[in-house]
Amino acid sequence: MQLTCTEIRRDTQDINTYWFEADQSLDFIPGQFLPIQVEIDGAIEQRCYSLASQPGQTRCSLTIKRVNNGLVSNHLADSLSVGDTLQAMPAAGEFNAELYQDQALILLSAGCGITPVYSMLVSRLAENPDADIVFVHSASTAEDRVYVEELEALASQYQNLQLVWCVSNQSGDEFHARLSEQVLAELDSNLASRVALMCGPDGYMQSAQQWLESLGLAKQHIHHEQFQVAIPETGSNSGSHTLTINGQEVTIDGEQTVLDALESEGLPIFAACRAGVCGSCRCKGDKSKLVSSTTGPLSDEDVEQGYFLACASQVNDDMFVEIG
Ligand SMILES: Cc1cc2nc3c(=O)[nH]c(=O)nc-3n(C[C@H](O)[C@H](O)[C@H](O)COP(=O)(O)OP(=O)(O)OC[C@H]3O[C@@H](n4cnc5c(N)ncnc54)[C@H](O)[C@@H]3O)c2cc1C
Ligand code: FES
Repeated sequence: MQLTCTEIRRDTQDINTYWFEADQSLDFIPGQFLPIQVEIDGAIEQRCYSLASQPGQTRCSLTIKRVNNGLVSNHLADSLSVGDTLQAMPAAGEFNAELYQDQALILLSAGCGITPVYSMLVSRLAENPDADIVFVHSASTAEDRVYVEELEALASQYQNLQLVWCVSNQSGDEFHARLSEQVLAELDSNLASRVALMCGPDGYMQSAQQWLESLGLAKQHIHHEQFQVAIPETGSNSGSHTLTINGQEVTIDGEQTVLDALESEGLPIFAACRAGVCGSCRCKGDKSKLVSSTTGPLSDEDVEQGYFLACASQVNDDMFVEIG
């Protein structure tokens, strides 16, 4: 699918929203991400971005934060112009509107993590204008908040939407302080009956998960989307090892992921998210030689059979690898 950039908006000092016109209607479930391909210095780079817009139309939007030394996020911020085109693959992802039905929701986000939960919010309200939703967005300062106009407009239109801004470095009637268990407890005395969906930096999500659980939400009603894969625990996986794939030998050093090692030799591995989320980089090997930070969407049976995610795995010995 081809996307043509039609509009760029600067949301904060390091976050932009890009609108695109696709050459076909986008079919996805709110909350899902779009794998996009960008050509930088002759090489094709692939990254995933959660769709902030709604399905069933050709117009779509992505909201992207510059990552320190990040290749694609900075390239887009510095070089993408209206009229430029990108390639995109079909949307995917398990973090989506199928995780809830008619339950009351609490949607939590920080920074650009707002994208999937904003898409869920808009679709839920379109489906059921009486849906009971608490929407909490966290930012360091008032200027770092995103989608302010859109969210304020929704909150004035829907009385049943409780919009909460948590701003760490600012006080005042308009904002709550930094998100905490106490802030969550004060929002709703019936929090435990809600389904929680959250997206933001790892530390933010770990804390929010703990607070929600201690306020009575069942673990199975708390869902999150991770934008960045955790680096596998290091220790035993130091030094260099050899991966053998279809008779070809590839050297992998202790700190490299299997994905990095295979890509550096030009082996044909497809990696849509690079974050242990989508399962597209699935490989098979000897599980006793693997150090994986996540098995993401793989089933217990897959893992038992030696399947692993190349983007989230290192090795601690020489190993035979099958791709796919
Ligand atoms: C399912 C999914 C949905 C996503 N949706 C969004 C979205 O809506 N908006 C958005 O801005 N990003 C989103 N991302 C993150 C995005 O895919 C890229 O990882 C991010 O833009 C960084 O890419 P890069 O090429 O700039 O950095 P890279 O060149 O890949 O990385 C450079 C350095 O930054 C670190 N790094 C990589 N990603 C991150 C990160 N997310 N945060 C902090 N450090 C990082 C790397 O470890 C590396 O050290 C999503 C990721 C996933 C898996
Ligand atoms: S690339 Fe998506 S799980 Fe590895």
